[in-house]
Amino acid sequence: MPVIRTVKDYIRTIVDFPHEGIMFRDVTTLFADPRGFRMAIDQMLHPYAGEQIDKVVGLEARGFILGGAIAHQLSLGFVPIRKKGKLPGAVISEDYQLEYGEAVVEIHDDAIQPGEKVLMVDDLRATGGTAEAGIRLIERLGGEIVGCAFVIDLPELGGRKRLEAMGMDVHALCDFEGE
Ligand code: PRP
Ligand code: MG
Repeated sequence: MPVIRTVKDYIRTIVDFPHEGIMFRDVTTLFADPRGFRMAIDQMLHPYAGEQIDKVVGLEARGFILGGAIAHQLSLGFVPIRKKGKLPGAVISEDYQLEYGEAVVEIHDDAIQPGEKVLMVDDLRATGGTAEAGIRLIERLGGEIVGCAFVIDLPELGGRKRLEAMGMDVHALCDFEGE
């Protein structure tokens, strides 16, 4: 019998990156595999089959790879949320907390029209801080978030509960907990 691999099987763990004590969940091995990448895109879309979506928003940086493929699959446009100072046009900004210090994400202020239905995607949800900032940006432009889809959840960091408390429909394809 052939072994059926899951999305999680394609994700590599790098120990002590970017610093000691961190188990880095590396999705480049998932993206590099033709079956793994297609499986991830299909599974991220599965909960939203039949739903109206107008735009796909991806969070820098790995959310661009996923979001581009998902937008193409749905024949929709793609909108990037980027780290501060990277977008050339007029932007709105949101601060969020990092492990040490603060960061800022931005979106073009004309990227989403009021009432548009948005699917937001990223590779990983940890504390949910990045996603929360993304949600605030989309909602400030009047977008209605249909859902937030991730490849990986780290349940111990509480991101799912945090986003659900904001009323979001959230999905992840796999989680890593105590391993
Ligand atoms: C990682 C990951 C998510 C975010 C999740 O990105 O890709 O975007 O952290 O963490 P959170 O849920 O605690 O906010 P990172 O900020 O390392 O940047 P990158 O994607 O540009 O490499
Ligand atoms: Mg990221």
